[in-house]
Amino acid sequence: MADELKTWERAQRRIDGIVANLGGGIAAQSAVGDGLCKILHGLVHIKPACCVEVGTLRGLSAVALAHFCGTVITIDVARHPDLGRVMELVPPMIRDRIATVVVPDNDAKAALIQQLTFQFANIDGGHSELQVAIDFGLVRRCGSVLFHDYPASGSGCDGVKIAMDKVGQGSIEARPPFAWWRAE
Ligand SMILES: C[S@@+](CC[C@H](N)C(=O)[O-])C[C@H]1O[C@@H](n2cnc3c(N)ncnc32)[C@H](O)[C@@H]1O
Repeated sequence: MADELKTWERAQRRIDGIVANLGGGIAAQSAVGDGLCKILHGLVHIKPACCVEVGTLRGLSAVALAHFCGTVITIDVARHPDLGRVMELVPPMIRDRIATVVVPDNDAKAALIQQLTFQFANIDGGHSELQVAIDFGLVRRCGSVLFHDYPASGSGCDGVKIAMDKVGQGSIEARPPFAWWRAE
């Protein structure tokens, strides 16, 4: 148990160090400010070899994920100018296991994800009902998907809950502002 706690604490300390270095604004709109590291504790026993994330922003959630997953492939439709500053503060043993990919649109994202084998996904991209449903459709075959902003965390992100409430199969563990969908 002590070993498991160390994983999320290590991730949280890494995030705290980045925030201390770059200022609190670096974590704006990031799930790390809502306790992502502690939520990811649920991955300790699964140890996914590969995780796909939709919604990179400045890379903070990807850094957190890399403490629990072998490889993190994080996909966004834009490259945030602060992403490089964040990655520079991350040691190579973490940074080298994070692939940041920028795609022009949903079609390119779908083509990429179709090629990948992964055991876990973090959905935190566009928050409209339609976009959440599209992203979920791309990753659900992995069987274990985490969502941020369920329900909305104050910024009009109701689409996550609306989309998830329409998913008939599997189970949803609500841990606001996160939800964890599992296929079983
Ligand atoms: C809330 S931020 C992600 C925060 C990040 N996961 C974190 O916790 O640090 C949402 C990101 O989704 C991206 N995004 C918006 N629409 C997208 C789409 N259709 N596909 C992929 N990413 C998208 C935005 O560019 C933005 O960087």
